[in-house]
Amino acid sequence: MTWPGGPVLGIETSCDETSAGVVEGGSIRGHVVASQDAHARFGGVVPEIAARAHLRQLDSVVAATLEEAGLRPAELAGVGVTAGPGLIGCLLVGVNWAKALAFGLDLPLIGLHHMEAHLFANSLEQPDAKPPFIALLVSGGHTMLLWVPEWGRYSLLGQTRDDAAGEAFDKVGRRLGLPYPGGPEIDREAAHGAPGSYSLPRPMLSAADGPEDRSYFDFSFSGLKTAASLLIQEIESAGDGALERARPDLAAEFQAAAVEVLVEKTLRAVRLYGCGRVVVGGGVACNSLLRKRLASALGPEGELFAPSPRLATDNGAMVARLAEHRLAAGERSGLELTADPSLPFPGLEPEREGAAASPASA
Ligand code: KG4
Ligand code: ZN
Repeated sequence: MTWPGGPVLGIETSCDETSAGVVEGGSIRGHVVASQDAHARFGGVVPEIAARAHLRQLDSVVAATLEEAGLRPAELAGVGVTAGPGLIGCLLVGVNWAKALAFGLDLPLIGLHHMEAHLFANSLEQPDAKPPFIALLVSGGHTMLLWVPEWGRYSLLGQTRDDAAGEAFDKVGRRLGLPYPGGPEIDREAAHGAPGSYSLPRPMLSAADGPEDRSYFDFSFSGLKTAASLLIQEIESAGDGALERARPDLAAEFQAAAVEVLVEKTLRAVRLYGCGRVVVGGGVACNSLLRKRLASALGPEGELFAPSPRLATDNGAMVARLAEHRLAAGERSGLELTADPSLPFPGLEPEREGAAASPASA
């Protein structure tokens, strides 16, 4: 199916950001992100509150996006929407909204995978951020290490076996008495602390593992989170402001442990595939230590693509960018499109046979 091209609207409502973006020819024409701060006092996202907020905000978020783009709805050439994974009530708001728009204006519609959209975010700012590359996707719900030989073809090298990286930051942030979300707060606290004042584990970094072992690329953050929690409890029990005094050092050590694991696993993939181009995405890609450590580990030979914070966290522009790519490839969703909270990542190469794929077979 040929597609004439033109401005594409992307809609993102999978978690607690109501966002829309218009992208044309790989560039942003309009972009609005409405973050929901109603969740902070609960220390995490409350799905029902998030879904209702999307419902309230989405009309005006899209209207503001089109105004910024200088477009009337009828001038759009297509619409893309995050269909999963995410919170079902939240996803349904976006999917039904996009379907209504597509039906009403007779526009091509495409349902998309949220994490694949994160993969495309960098290319909005840096046109060179295209395959082949190693991708580290680190968000509040996912931790994935991928080899991307070309758009749409993905080898999943490793993923978390329990908590996502962002989830661990958020939970440890909460134990430290920091506001939600904990990731950016820990980043800020850590700037005043010293890693090494305390000692936390670096999970899944056994030197005995090789590329043929699953644990070589997989992540696990639950043990690190528990170790941090026990340490915090011990310090807290001393009372008299002990936790307040130790907070920067604890934040620094936790951040150093999480980042060391993320960087080392990424470097393992870089070495195995002989590819020094690395793309990071997802909210944790905002972490200042992660960016610094990855850049220095890759050295002058390597290329690190890390999006600006607005495009690293959830946003509609990345959805529009992916929608444009898939519409141009002739893909369409029918009006039977529905939200799927555990939508599988598209285009995954078959399971590596009990081991990491050799670069030649990838
Ligand atoms: O991609 P995202 O906006 O939403 C999901 O798809 O989950 O990621 C949100 C996550 C949260 O866990 C948040 O704490 C984390 O990204 N995050 C950070 C930083 N900024 C956001 N984690 C560590 N350091 C940061 N600077
Ligand atoms: Zn996300």
